[in-house]
Amino acid sequence: MQENFSLKNFNTFGVEAKAKQFTEICSVEELIQLLSKTVSQPLLFLGGGSNILLTQDFDGIAVKLNLKGISEKKSDENHILVTAQAGENWHEFVMYCLEKNYGGLENLSLIPGNVGTSPMQNIGAYGVEIKDVFHSCKVLNRETLKIEEFNLDQCRFGYRDSIFKQEGKGKYIILEVTFKLTLKNHTIKTEYGAIQSQLEQSGIKNPTIRDISNAVIHIRKSKLPDPKETGNAGSFFKNPTIPSAQFEDLKLRFPDIQGYPNGNMVKVPAGWLIEQCGWKGKQIGNVASHALQSLVIINATGNATGKEIFDFSTEIIKSVKEKFGIELEREVNII
Ligand code: EPU
Repeated sequence: MQENFSLKNFNTFGVEAKAKQFTEICSVEELIQLLSKTVSQPLLFLGGGSNILLTQDFDGIAVKLNLKGISEKKSDENHILVTAQAGENWHEFVMYCLEKNYGGLENLSLIPGNVGTSPMQNIGAYGVEIKDVFHSCKVLNRETLKIEEFNLDQCRFGYRDSIFKQEGKGKYIILEVTFKLTLKNHTIKTEYGAIQSQLEQSGIKNPTIRDISNAVIHIRKSKLPDPKETGNAGSFFKNPTIPSAQFEDLKLRFPDIQGYPNGNMVKVPAGWLIEQCGWKGKQIGNVASHALQSLVIINATGNATGKEIFDFSTEIIKSVKEKFGIELEREVNII
């Protein structure tokens, strides 16, 4: 247990915040021991630190979950169940699956963070969400200290959402996640426009899962800042979903507005709304909206505080509300 510990290297925004205490956990037994000894203390579980914004010091124990390991079990002729422990790095896990030619995760290449946090917000990119390949996950119930298993239905995945962000919030610690991947006859998902253009540019007609991964890596690198160079947490806001009638009204006033219908609702790209309010590339103090993707807020100078980033995001929410009447919701967890 370390005292007065800096979390700067444990959050991809790279903001300074101190935890009263810090410890690393390498096995489920250690985790259970810690939980039984620290019943009344606030705990902050850290995965890859890629989806949190630390706005203040943490008056409790920050716990880095370092559970490691990958195992496999054949499911049927064309499927394999691959289980990764929560502390495995997401992208390295995706690369491991590609090396073995297991299909399903290639569109999710290069997403920062760890496997254990992937079900929390049903991570997604370029036409795929983990719910599409998710089989089950094992969690530790913090009240009973018993291990429970959640299947696909029980996780109640939605857009950047799951039971772990709703009624299960704070109740479970994800220990491992199992994905059902294809061994052959892979389903190649190229619907996302940017993937198609990238493949065309590279002259690829019949892409393999490796080609898809390479295309996604190329697109992400060209648009999204690398947290190792510029502090950020990917998309800061969710893309809002609004009623079709509201969308039609907006379309009359803003003919360029885009929308993706989903039942009687329409999902609108937050990046576009933010850009229209003049925020793209704009910097205030140490914080900016990324010049190539305004949905991403960056620690532009490396010296931003969490509070500054939070206040910057509040200003964006205000502008978008004023201009479009849409209330943006933060995707990043505010601590
Ligand atoms: N757009 C703009 N201006 C901008 C940014 C975007 O007009 O500054 C427009 C684009 O032109 C495009 C549309 O908005 O027509 C959508 O943009 P993009 O394809 O970049 O995707 P996104 O909706 O902004 C989402 C995810 C990303 C994911 C990409 C690709 C959310 C909150 N974000 O972004 O996920 O990588 O799609 O699938 O759903 C993350 O969650 O951290 C993340 C990066």
